Amino acid sequence: MRSLLFVPGDSERKIAKALKSDADVVIFDLEDAVAPDRKQAARELTAEVLSSPGKRPQRFVRINPFSSGLSQQDLDHIEPANPHGIMQPKTESGEDVLTLARMMNAPLPIIAIATETARSMFNLGSYNDASPSLIGLAWGAEDLSNELGATTSRDTDGELTSPYRLARNLCLIGARAADVEPIDTVYVNFRDHDGLRDECAAAARDGFTAKMAIHPDQIAIINEAFTPSSQAIAHASRIVEAFAMSGDPGVISLDGAMYDIPHLKRAEKLLARARVYAKDG
Ligand code: COA
Ligand code: MG
Repeated sequence: MRSLLFVPGDSERKIAKALKSDADVVIFDLEDAVAPDRKQAARELTAEVLSSPGKRPQRFVRINPFSSGLSQQDLDHIEPANPHGIMQPKTESGEDVLTLARMMNAPLPIIAIATETARSMFNLGSYNDASPSLIGLAWGAEDLSNELGATTSRDTDGELTSPYRLARNLCLIGARAADVEPIDTVYVNFRDHDGLRDECAAAARDGFTAKMAIHPDQIAIINEAFTPSSQAIAHASRIVEAFAMSGDPGVISLDGAMYDIPHLKRAEKLLARARVYAKDG
């Protein structure tokens, strides 16, 4: 999973378009992109679309948060339609994930957005062993900045201000500590493809394995950024081969640089990831 495309759960036109995209996951939104008086229409349309078979893209549903009192109703409509997974917004701790898993008839994979409230920020270390259903942690700046009373989450150069850099960093570290996928937040300026490309490159560099999207035009850029490049694959292969040819010592030198066990592990992980996406085509 590299790209996760949001689509408002009540928009037939956008849903049709999203399902034809190259997104790895389409997230049918029942939460913030759906007006309160459209929640029921969104549940019904989403359930109807999910009921017709389809393997790619995978279909997840973002339900409403516990604080809305709507989560159970959402699940009651959505579960019989067999989504591939559930996205849980405004998740405040590993305990919330466990509660959600227990609310389901048969636990589905869960991706939690884990930085949307002030309280959630103190619990990013709580996802370790929270629930076997948890497969990813994502972060969001829009709801958090509202809650913190900020006017914006970015400075005049478009860079995240420090509270949101903290959210991003703790999401990455919390996800790795819990051994689930770290997922970068949406890039809202959907016409700014250069800005998106830069943000994807920074996320992939830091360890994120996927990014959420709000517009189909963002998908190709995200998929490319989170797929190992042929250059990176060639370099990783050389490292692995050099270790093997030297009889797997603790440390080797290659092109005037030192490589030890962490470098070998990183190269092996990159090659494993490359094999997954080569299979996907
Ligand atoms: N999924 C599928 N199709 C989408 C889409 C999406 N997320 N966003 C836009 N499209 C479609 C449009 O419907 C339009 O199709 P059409 O020409 O057949 O009508 C086409 O792509 C071009 O859209 P465009 O004119 O560039 O954008 P817009 O002004 O129609 O929509 C947004 C802009 C932001 C409202 C829209 O991208 C959107 O709804 N994004 C998802 C929002 C969301 O779910 N947010 C919650 C998580 S943060
Ligand atoms: Mg939100």
